[in-house]
Amino acid sequence: MNAPDANTRFAPRHILGIEGLSPDQITSLLDAADGFVALNRRREKKGESLRGLTVINLFFETSTRTQTSFEMAAKRLGADVINMSVATSSIYKGESLIDTAMTLNAMRPDVLVVRHPHSGAVELLSQKVTCAVINCGDGSHEHPTQALLDALTIRRRKGTIAGLVVTICGDIAHSRVARSNIHLLTAMGARVRVVGPPTLIPAMIERMGVEVFHDMVAGLADADIVMMLRLQLERMHGTFVPSLRENFHFYGLDEDKLAAAKPDALIMHPGPINRGVEIDTSVADDIDRSVITEQVEMGVAVRMACLEAVTAHQEAASP
Ligand code: CP
Repeated sequence: MNAPDANTRFAPRHILGIEGLSPDQITSLLDAADGFVALNRRREKKGESLRGLTVINLFFETSTRTQTSFEMAAKRLGADVINMSVATSSIYKGESLIDTAMTLNAMRPDVLVVRHPHSGAVELLSQKVTCAVINCGDGSHEHPTQALLDALTIRRRKGTIAGLVVTICGDIAHSRVARSNIHLLTAMGARVRVVGPPTLIPAMIERMGVEVFHDMVAGLADADIVMMLRLQLERMHGTFVPSLRENFHFYGLDEDKLAAAKPDALIMHPGPINRGVEIDTSVADDIDRSVITEQVEMGVAVRMACLEAVTAHQEAASP
């Protein structure tokens, strides 16, 4: 794929969600990320486009993949990176999210990379600061860079997204990954199915353009992509599944259920995976079909593209 031309590349002020992005804007980010995959596979990985800029990682929820890959992405583009330790911050002296963000903004960072447990919190914060903001997951609302890295993984493996049957299985109700992926995949012309027990499928989700299945084998029939999601226990208030064992029996991905999908179907999972809860080890580690570690690799490239995109207008504006 060719990198987008500097005049036509998508350069938003913030990246807060996939909802509302056009296929061209999504494609622009994916094309830019595709170029970074090759750079990341070289021994010398240093770029220059963010040299002199400061990126602050501000994570109010735990993360392994997103936080580390944003730090790596920013450093590979030459930025200075601050990993703000929320646990030792003045949040615990009663300082609000907005006051924290405005305090950090006063230090003139260029990008705030934010994860927060409440839906809408990152967008609210973006309205109060002058720097760019990238949403790394806000409650059960959106996780845009996850959907972009999933799309890049699919596009590189299958050559296209349009026309593919993508089945997303598990805890759809609490999943920001599902929501961002549904927005992206439907915008790009995929047929999206969601599979799960009625307790974990939001009412009226069909309005997002997906088909709903409660029988996993029916939902997996002839699927090109099988995307598994973990139970988001941290967001559940009450009982949503009878037991983890029963959940695996009906909705866990194993060889038997996977047989309903196309023989070359890709197995995806945003991580962290819970083996034996939503996915069996034999399919998670299937070297021919599982692309779970490839998704992690694509995450660095996608986050480099997003950092470049939100700082491009700053480049144009600076003296
Ligand atoms: N997929 C994802 O967001 O993983 P982390 O919670 O480890 O960042």
